[in-house]
Amino acid sequence: VRVEFLDYEALDDYGWSLEDDDLFRKASHADLDESAHGRLLVQPDESLLEAAENRGFTWPFSCRGGACANCAVYLVEGELSQPTDHIMPDDLAERGFRLSCNGYPVSDELKVVFNVKQLPELDDLIL
Ligand code: FES
Repeated sequence: VRVEFLDYEALDDYGWSLEDDDLFRKASHADLDESAHGRLLVQPDESLLEAAENRGFTWPFSCRGGACANCAVYLVEGELSQPTDHIMPDDLAERGFRLSCNGYPVSDELKVVFNVKQLPELDDLIL
């Protein structure tokens, strides 16, 4: 599964929004560091977080068990599974927020913004 990722910090720096239709196009033109915007492959037995780590990236996490939301990502495209035992409220899940520590890709391609834990809506969930 191919994943294109973008660090939420870049949105903050450039004043972009998660709702921007052309977010990833803007990111490709912004000359971002390869740890902030790039692509990686997820193997079938890897969660999204594990895949990022196994390719040498450092993404935020803490509990690795669906209980803290430090590893939260925002889905721009594609689908990431969410096991039932987790902290993400339904309304945020419906908007596209997922946990990368226990999320496994269920579409062939994904576009995700990682490092979204600093968003105010996720603040209460961070332990
Ligand atoms: Fe705590 Fe993913 S690291 S929910």
